[in-house]
Amino acid sequence: MKLICANFKMNLLRKDIVNYLSFIENKIDKEKVIFFPNNLFLEYFKKDNYLVGSQDISFKDFGAVTGDTSIEQLKELGVDYTLIGHSERRKYFLDDNYINQKMNLALKNDLKIILCIGESLEEKDNNLTNTVLKNQLDEALKNNLGYQLEKKLIIAYEPVWSIGTGIIPNENELKNTIHELKIYLQDTYKLNSLVLYGGSVNLDNISTLETIDNIDGYLIGGACLNPENFLVLIDKIK
Ligand code: PGA
Repeated sequence: MKLICANFKMNLLRKDIVNYLSFIENKIDKEKVIFFPNNLFLEYFKKDNYLVGSQDISFKDFGAVTGDTSIEQLKELGVDYTLIGHSERRKYFLDDNYINQKMNLALKNDLKIILCIGESLEEKDNNLTNTVLKNQLDEALKNNLGYQLEKKLIIAYEPVWSIGTGIIPNENELKNTIHELKIYLQDTYKLNSLVLYGGSVNLDNISTLETIDNIDGYLIGGACLNPENFLVLIDKIK
């Protein structure tokens, strides 16, 4: 069974969330889908017994960090997972500088991690995809090897050029990239982590993606915002 992560990003208002939850009631396998709504709405999903994750965590554990949310505060709301290193965080909030600290904090606090990695279009065009992914992994994992990473770490491969563009890598490319990534994780870190694919997953391309046998699940943005479409999409994911 594949894992499906629904990343709402900074979308939907409270009334939309209430409607969303009533629409999906009793229609979702609660072990298959993890919801990543805005922090304001985590409790709404938790109350209905869904698995929930935060879209980010603070790099500090508490204190004077205006605008951030600490792990402890998130855990109090029943958060099971967190995304770390989403490309939008890396772009707008310079998260490349904080990945390692965030990883460390999440592991120390026993939160499960979906670590997002991915190359830019320029890097892809220069045949740097595998190098970039390895560097991003190394940066995230350095100093964090004492933890039982196997049970706590899931990787989401999200090519930056694919997020929100409607464009996905071709099947061979994607299969090879994930293959290389899994080999690197195993050889270097002795990890058999799940590897999800993210970037413009939608109803038009899901049947193609489903033919790629080394994808362990999906991180879905735009296509999870409409509950009706999302249910159809989930149904196509085996
Ligand atoms: P998208 O976003 O599905 O809208 O491309 C995916 C993501 O950024 O996690």
